[in-house]
Amino acid sequence: MKFENDNSILQRKMSSSYVGVSRRQAMIKALNINIGDIVLDVGCGGGQLIEDIAKSVGRKGKAIGVDPSSSQISSAKELCSGLENTLFICCLADNIDLESDSINAAASIQTFEYINDIDKALIEIKRLLKPRSKFLNISTLWDYYRFHGPEKKLNDLMHDVFKEHCSHQMVPTFLNGRLKNLGFKDIKTTELAYVFTKRDENSFAKYAETLIANFALGKGVDQEKVSEWQRQIKKAEENGRFCFTSIPVLTEAILEK
Ligand SMILES: C[S@@+](CC[C@H](N)C(=O)[O-])C[C@H]1O[C@@H](n2cnc3c(N)ncnc32)[C@H](O)[C@@H]1O
Repeated sequence: MKFENDNSILQRKMSSSYVGVSRRQAMIKALNINIGDIVLDVGCGGGQLIEDIAKSVGRKGKAIGVDPSSSQISSAKELCSGLENTLFICCLADNIDLESDSINAAASIQTFEYINDIDKALIEIKRLLKPRSKFLNISTLWDYYRFHGPEKKLNDLMHDVFKEHCSHQMVPTFLNGRLKNLGFKDIKTTELAYVFTKRDENSFAKYAETLIANFALGKGVDQEKVSEWQRQIKKAEENGRFCFTSIPVLTEAILEK
């Protein structure tokens, strides 16, 4: 999935909703930032995490966001325009124009699932990290990113089509091994589970429904089938048998070097 135009607008709305905010809170807590730290956000999107990091590292520190989407980078720059200790680079995670051994921590939220060659990106991040620094990642277990309520066959079709939206469905299930192979230590995982039984205006579930519906239409699923799926979600919600589940996982690791 390309995060340009309408997709990037929807992504930033999702990131501003309860799920996005609470994921960032978990990330900030795990980062345990020191004043003066230089922290990288890989796949910074609209810059919400960069804004929090920049405020945490103080004027002597720096928050650096990288993202290949020009629309995400320009939105991030706008959000952080009042903060002098930020830097944004429009690039892929596997080729970042920064000096080796120059950052205290690398963070990433819901980005590694979109990176084709995960090892290549991890090797690049390892190059940038100083000795005794941290790598933190939050990725979603997409097999469990699911609406419950619509009729099974149609619901399965919609979720099966959506699998194509990213390169890796289950990053947290294999990331620990990849990190270990690259010399990272003290690797641990924490689940951040979300369960919604209602869809309000700024609900992550409402945005997720729009995302899956738009994606399915783009992949050629009939408008009638997509509308029927959305009708069934609405009906399930009215009848008190609607649910949307998502399980992002926080992975933490230390690099000794
Ligand atoms: C779901 S968004 C998450 C954005 C942000 N981290 C957040 O939590 O709001 C995924 C982001 O990853 C970026 N991305 C996709 N492929 C990437 C790559 N190879 N390297 C770095 N970022 C990438 C996209 O442009 C997009 O902004």
